[in-house]
Amino acid sequence: MTTSLYERLGGDEAVLRRLVDAFYDRMDRDAVYAGIRALHPPSLDGSRDKLFWYLCGWTGGEPHYVSRFGHPRLRARHLPFAIATRERDQWLDCMAAALLEAGIAPALGEELMRALAPLADWMRNRAE
Ligand code: HEM
Repeated sequence: MTTSLYERLGGDEAVLRRLVDAFYDRMDRDAVYAGIRALHPPSLDGSRDKLFWYLCGWTGGEPHYVSRFGHPRLRARHLPFAIATRERDQWLDCMAAALLEAGIAPALGEELMRALAPLADWMRNRAE
């Protein structure tokens, strides 16, 4: 039996909350991410909660996002935002840095990135 990512992250939601906070704090303060920051609402509070809830379920923990909003329909929910290769890469770079900042073991962080990369790619909805 394989152990879920959630369990390998410590089986503790606080780890994912720390990750999401590191991700959005970085997006908010680092000019490198100004492009994707501008797609988000002025307050990132709701974005933080939603990504946190989503990642809890996606890694194999409690399905907080689905119990609140139903099926994620993630690609459809991202259609209002212009996401091309540049935005996808900014998102993934920001996440890679946040994983390190949140103190997640590098090998586990790399595994998470390998799983997130195709998902982020699927969010692309513009040629450029
Ligand atoms: C693995 C990739 C990704 C995951 C798991 C993810 C997850 C999510 C989730 C769960 C939401 C909330 C949806 C809702 O209920 O309204 C969301 C919203 C959003 N995402 Fe993503 N996303 C990903 C990639 C991206 C990428 C590449 C961008 C590029 C900029 C992006 C930009 C946004 C924006 C602008 C919102 C709206 C935030 C808000 O309304 O507060 N996402 N994302």
